[in-house]
Amino acid sequence: MWAVGGGKGGTGKSLVAASLGIHLAQMGRRVILVDGDLGAPNLHTILGMDPPPLALSDFIKRRFDSIETVVFETGVERLSLISGARNSLDIESLKHFQKTRLLRVLLGLPADVVLLDLGAGTSLNVLDLFSLADRALLVILPEPTSVENCYRFLKAAFLRRLYHLGRTLGHQPIIDLVMEHRDQSDDGRPYEIIEEIARVDSCVAATLASHVDTFLPHLVINQVRSHEDERLGESMEWISGRFIRIPVRFAGAIPYDPTLVQCVKSRRAYLSEYPRTRTAEMLRAVAESFSSPRTGPHSATGLRSPERDAYSALDLRPGAMQDEVLSAYLRLRRTLRSDSPALASLDCEAERQATVAAIEEAYRSLSRNLTVPSPVRRRPVRSSVPLL
Ligand SMILES: Nc1ncnc2c1ncn2[C@@H]1O[C@H](COP(=O)(O)OP(=O)(O)OP(=O)(O)O)[C@@H](O)[C@H]1O
Ligand SMILES: [Mg+2]
Repeated sequence: MWAVGGGKGGTGKSLVAASLGIHLAQMGRRVILVDGDLGAPNLHTILGMDPPPLALSDFIKRRFDSIETVVFETGVERLSLISGARNSLDIESLKHFQKTRLLRVLLGLPADVVLLDLGAGTSLNVLDLFSLADRALLVILPEPTSVENCYRFLKAAFLRRLYHLGRTLGHQPIIDLVMEHRDQSDDGRPYEIIEEIARVDSCVAATLASHVDTFLPHLVINQVRSHEDERLGESMEWISGRFIRIPVRFAGAIPYDPTLVQCVKSRRAYLSEYPRTRTAEMLRAVAESFSSPRTGPHSATGLRSPERDAYSALDLRPGAMQDEVLSAYLRLRRTLRSDSPALASLDCEAERQATVAAIEEAYRSLSRNLTVPSPVRRRPVRSSVPLL
């Protein structure tokens, strides 16, 4: 089961979920799209369909025993839809037993991919479905409010994942720590819970850390209109991994296209209707990145040395080329500028300054080493690059 979420409303979650579904179906997979937005379902509209006569709420309320009764064809070969609710008052929040039953049934659906389009917000329903999915995709807008919401959503989903792991392992201290952390504030670092567990039980902490590493939500920036918007995803990936310690993977930036609004208005599926635009191209690229086999988050292995540490500070593999060193340095300087949009309202000024200092030092030391000409190196690094 894969899930598309994002915390904030109207970021393009349904558009991305529908496009992912269409692309995967066109690539030969059997896909069932599930509109998990029980309060305001509209995935059918994005797909250019009329509202199906039966919906997920009918199954949840046990009006039917088989979920397959509420699965409808979309007109795209191999792509089906389970709509959310027939009206917004039908059902909004799920009770625990309803959620458990729903998850069990969704996992048993006859499809290669069950793709869940989640509603806005950070309700427990949304967080549970997002954090329990095998793969999770976050769709946000290149705006400070959306970035802020995204980090909040990530932290809450991370905590929820820890909570479920605690229950599966039957480990009460994890559950207690999650509850404590949640009650304190939403600005902390949820990873500290694993560190705290490590002080008393390193084995459980290692299990938690490896489960958390497999989470790796993907991030999409939608409705981009500038190069700065495009670069935001890369910066957020870095900030989230280093400062919040929740690894995410940037999956792509989707350009704003006014035609898309017209498409939704006239009830046509954008990806099928306009397959050759840059926006459609990027939607397919996101689908490819999201569905490709997993590689874990980057981790440095091998013996440490000052040179290896310098490469690692710049997020590079040891022995990277001079031009790679320079561009990594400039990229990180940009990411860590005090007014960087990727830092939106994170309380991390001391950490930011310390990291900038470490990056300066790493760049200085690697530039010094690189002044010796070498046939492997492409060209010398300029030691004095104008800074920001
Ligand atoms: N790349 C884009 N270019 C232009 N318009 C877009 C783009 N992405 C989304 N939109 C517009 O934004 C609207 C909202 O998109 P969508 O319904 O996918 O958001 P959502 O995150 O699912 O919203 P909700 O939180 O209400 O479920 C769409 O109807 C579409 O008109
Ligand atoms: Mg939606």
